[in-house]
Amino acid sequence: MRRDDNGHALEFQQRIDRGDKIEPQDWMPESYRQALQRQMAQHAHSEYVGMLPEGRWITRAPSLHRKCILLAKVQDEAGHAQYLYSALESLGLSREQAYGQLLSGQAKYLNIFNYPALSWADVGMIGWLTDGAAIVNQVPLSRSSYGPYARAMLRICQEESFHHRQGFDLVRKLVEGSPDQREMAQEALNRWWWPTVMVFGPPDEDSVHSQRSMRWGIKLYSNDTLRQKFIDQTVPQIHHLGLSVPDEHLRFNQETGHYEIGLIDWDEFQRVIQGNGQCNRDRIAARRHAWESGAWVREAAACYAHKQAARLTERQGEQNV
Ligand code: 3HC
Repeated sequence: MRRDDNGHALEFQQRIDRGDKIEPQDWMPESYRQALQRQMAQHAHSEYVGMLPEGRWITRAPSLHRKCILLAKVQDEAGHAQYLYSALESLGLSREQAYGQLLSGQAKYLNIFNYPALSWADVGMIGWLTDGAAIVNQVPLSRSSYGPYARAMLRICQEESFHHRQGFDLVRKLVEGSPDQREMAQEALNRWWWPTVMVFGPPDEDSVHSQRSMRWGIKLYSNDTLRQKFIDQTVPQIHHLGLSVPDEHLRFNQETGHYEIGLIDWDEFQRVIQGNGQCNRDRIAARRHAWESGAWVREAAACYAHKQAARLTERQGEQNV
């Protein structure tokens, strides 16, 4: 770092500590830009890939009402990816570059989307648990230090809360239904509980990026803090529905006021995020297919934009004569 960069870096940290928002045109250390790009790209890809497990249930939703809700939800996820990819462009990472990182496996996306949605109850679990976890994680991110990221989060979180409620409502309907439906809900909870607990990332002592990201206000709380918050708020909801948490070691600690859970299988987490989960290959293949089959749309849009720009220049020329 050059001498004048040191001065900038100090001033930059002071702005963050004061709670100022950093905007795209502002000076920022290159390592801040890269750390943001990494997290925001992972986030954008998670929204984009996250459409897939539920998306395959749109044609099989049990009623028109549920189909409309699911369509709206999946469409919202596409919108979230759009906001985040746009925010990434403000950091100098184009969509082509961002997709390239996803398709080559260089950029990660959330572990949870590498599990299959096997039954209709899984759709409810994704909404209730995964979107519930997303809210716990993302509400603080609406105070993140980077303006475009924080502003994207405000709208995303409002929509996630609708997703969360529809998921809870779907599961509630099942547990109030027949014994088979209740069993289907319990089986789905058994499948989704642990992967959702892992969503918050590795334990704090193994988290490579947390300390620096928190110093820069890119993330506000540590992985374990948010995980605990999610567990404390979700376990009572599970009990309220009469379902059981698939964890024989779960207990409420009266002294701390928190739930304690059994050991998380971090080997499984690593396997999944390294590309070897149940659906990693399918997910990337689906995204590659979408990218390749959408080439003509991108070309047509670029051609249209080019023609519009040429027409505008022509008109401006005529006015100047
Ligand atoms: N899945 C996949 N990879 C993960 C992960 C997860 N759940 N948690 C951590 N990792 C990866 C990190 O990317 C990092 O890998 P890298 O160095 O190759 O990039 C490594 O594991 C070490 O983890 P760290 O704890 O050091 O990483 P972070 O400090 O970045 O913390 C995080 C991880 C908590 C996920 C953080 O990045 C974060 O808060 N991200 C923004 C939230 C986000 O991505 N949300 C996606 C929501 S998708 C959604 O809402 C769709 C739903 O509505 C259906």
